[in-house]
Amino acid sequence: MKPTFYLTTPIYYVNDVPHIGHAYTTVAADVLARYKRLMGYDVYFLTGSDEHGQKVEKAATTAGETPLELADRVVKRFQALWDRLGISRNDFIRTTQERHKRGVSQIFKDILDSGDIYLGEYEDWYCTPCETFWTETQLIDGRCPDCNRPVEKLKEESYFFRMSKYQEQLLAHIEANPDFIQPKSKRNEIISFVKEGLRDLSVSRTTFSWGIPVPGNDRHIIYVWFDALTNYITALGFPDKTGNYGRYWPVDVQLIGKDILRFHAVYWPTFLMAAGLPLPKKVFAHGWWTVEGQKMSKSLQNVVEPNMLIDKYGVDAVRYFLLREVPFGLDGDFSHSALINRINSDLANDVGNLLSRSTAMAVKYFDGVLHSPSSLTEIDIALKQRTEEMVTTVEKLMDELAFSKTLQAIWEVISAGNKYIDDTAPWTLAKDPANNERLATVMYCLLESQRIVHCLLSSFLPSTAQKALASLGSSDAVSKDVLAWGGLQAGTKIIKAEALFPRIEE
Ligand code: MSP
Repeated sequence: MKPTFYLTTPIYYVNDVPHIGHAYTTVAADVLARYKRLMGYDVYFLTGSDEHGQKVEKAATTAGETPLELADRVVKRFQALWDRLGISRNDFIRTTQERHKRGVSQIFKDILDSGDIYLGEYEDWYCTPCETFWTETQLIDGRCPDCNRPVEKLKEESYFFRMSKYQEQLLAHIEANPDFIQPKSKRNEIISFVKEGLRDLSVSRTTFSWGIPVPGNDRHIIYVWFDALTNYITALGFPDKTGNYGRYWPVDVQLIGKDILRFHAVYWPTFLMAAGLPLPKKVFAHGWWTVEGQKMSKSLQNVVEPNMLIDKYGVDAVRYFLLREVPFGLDGDFSHSALINRINSDLANDVGNLLSRSTAMAVKYFDGVLHSPSSLTEIDIALKQRTEEMVTTVEKLMDELAFSKTLQAIWEVISAGNKYIDDTAPWTLAKDPANNERLATVMYCLLESQRIVHCLLSSFLPSTAQKALASLGSSDAVSKDVLAWGGLQAGTKIIKAEALFPRIEE
């Protein structure tokens, strides 16, 4: 039986259309999912949409639609974008689906029955865009500390979750599991936050109706974050604990943006503790993208639309840029010039050029037929070793979700390949038929190194790698075995590769 690997993205609000921030998490998750499948895991990759709550209700009113009409319309845009970006999700959950509503009602009821949810009264400052209550002291200049927008005083009867009760248990868990919250700086932030003390959390609202009613009291709607976070188990069939839930829970990695870490690293684990369910193994908070140095926002009209980027630069270039440009976990800046630079230097020049040069030589010198290598010289062994080391390094780096470093490690071998051509000078060897055996060995090492490079790249650049592997006479990378040196067989037909990435003129 294969080991399992369950990973999730946040579920995206349907009051906004997809932008590069959403694409970022989803592409990162896809790369990880593809890599883990290659490494032999039984992967379950979940994404979806967050469709309830006041925010969506308001957006629908503004648009003159029902919330569900709005959701149906916007969710298609997300799904179409994920199709275009090659997001290999196993499931897409919508919080308006029956399977989700049933699971949310059940976990709410379980916690209510156990006494950790109780009815009380609430009075505090509420920020509607963030769907968050704030205490007087948390406000900054009387405004929401997260988004700086005005807040309103709300008093309502509310159900509360006894989050305070789980403070020590949560701290102990975070301390005993150094990998639970990543990166480290974010882990420290959460530890300080929890140490300041957890208050009980309001988990129902009576001021609007678009959501899942509290079981047994339908004047109350379940708090949208309680509803949304539960998607990670309802998608697995919870409350049914056999089937996918039994197979994949607890989740291996939850990828999120840094702005929603508290919900995932404090609220969610304490809900699970109260329900007696196992906690996620890891939550990783990535940074935020600014655009040409500025915060991305509708009012600044600088929201970067992924479809436009794909039209202009292609899917794989966009996927590559997002993961290469900024170390996962840090903030980064998007600019067209940075993207064009990456395409021209890393993609067109390095990887594209290497493949077209090498396959062109294989065609020219051997009619595209690959021959067995004879004994390897020092320079061949060096290339082979670097390639093999890359495979090991990538395994370690992918485990750390260090996508950018992973790509750097792969690019070192690509550069080594380019240098290997210069050092072995195949065109000189080709001048004398006496060198034929040596030339065949050089071609073998050169192409074999690239075959392994493209097997690893297939997680990042699926269609590029597929084209490259086809020109190397190899099928798609489907298992870990393909990463071993020696996969290319004598007699394989090599086809001259077209330019993988055309250069972009600015
Ligand atoms: N619906 C909630 C998540 C519920 S998960 C149980 C939500 N949705 S969201 O659509 O507003 O945001 C989803 C994700 O997009 C968040 O992880 C957020 O960090 C990410 N991003 C939004 N803007 C971003 C950038 N400018 N840069 C990087 N990621 C950004 O929150």
